[in-house]
Amino acid sequence: MEHKQEISEDERLKREYYDLVGDWNLPIVRMGGLSATAQLLEMCAVDEQSKVLEVGCGVGYTTCEIGMKFGAHVVGIDISEKMIANANKRAKDLGVQDLVEFRVEDVANLPFEDESFDVVIMESLLNILGEQSVIERALLEIYRVTKRGARVGANEVFVDESAPSEVRARLHELLMGELGPGANLARYSDEQFKQMFADTGLPVVKIMKNQAAGTRSQLVNDLIKVMGFMGFMRYSIRATKDLLINSELRKATMKAAPAQRIMERNKDTRDFFGYVLIVAEKLI
Ligand SMILES: C[S@@+](CC[C@H](N)C(=O)[O-])C[C@H]1O[C@@H](n2cnc3c(N)ncnc32)[C@H](O)[C@@H]1O
Repeated sequence: MEHKQEISEDERLKREYYDLVGDWNLPIVRMGGLSATAQLLEMCAVDEQSKVLEVGCGVGYTTCEIGMKFGAHVVGIDISEKMIANANKRAKDLGVQDLVEFRVEDVANLPFEDESFDVVIMESLLNILGEQSVIERALLEIYRVTKRGARVGANEVFVDESAPSEVRARLHELLMGELGPGANLARYSDEQFKQMFADTGLPVVKIMKNQAAGTRSQLVNDLIKVMGFMGFMRYSIRATKDLLINSELRKATMKAAPAQRIMERNKDTRDFFGYVLIVAEKLI
């Protein structure tokens, strides 16, 4: 008999949300957009010889980029079947099926041999996992499948250690709307992420902190670049319709609108958070 794993209400809501985002075929669900991805890949020194793993790959935009830009072999995994269905379609449409492989998997149980990859990357994965113990478990798996001396790169949302609790509360609401409900996002500072990597045996060798200001309009520009204007309009209409129908997800995501104004446009608060690019190296 198949054993179904029990999941919490928060986890259920989060997965439902990512299935919807997967259905919308939304290619950039992170801060920093396309330029952050280009920067992260450069910091990780990806090249043609690299065997790359992307964890939490969503609909596979970055995974396919790695195949196309570097000619590298790359595996993208995500827990959402809908994300992976559209990722496979993207690889086929772009003609990179020979270099790119997608699988539905949980980062907590990666189905790969120890020391399989030269580079492991993730964009907005750790910060949506929530509890520190869950992040630690994910990092241990990532550590296991990374080759010795190889690089692990992440783009994660951070909140400044000095952020007042009022700002943290609003940030939590904003990020739930932007990156999915069900996760407590306004939790970790860049220093805390750095420590979590180091504690797993992945000392950080490069770190680049970026504030949030301006990232929202940049995201819309990047989405139009990848999806085309008509594609972006189709997605906007479909997302609005789906969220009107799903009242539970609508309530969670609509909270973002007022919080967004406060966090991204208000000079007093917007400098307290942003995205951090982290590159660590597995000890030899
Ligand atoms: C914020 S989105 C980022 C997606 C993509 N990296 C991007 O930048 O557009 C987080 C992704 O992590 C996936 N995810 C969540 N929990 C996961 C888990 N335990 N294992 C693998 N993927 C997971 C979600 O399905 C979602 O696609």
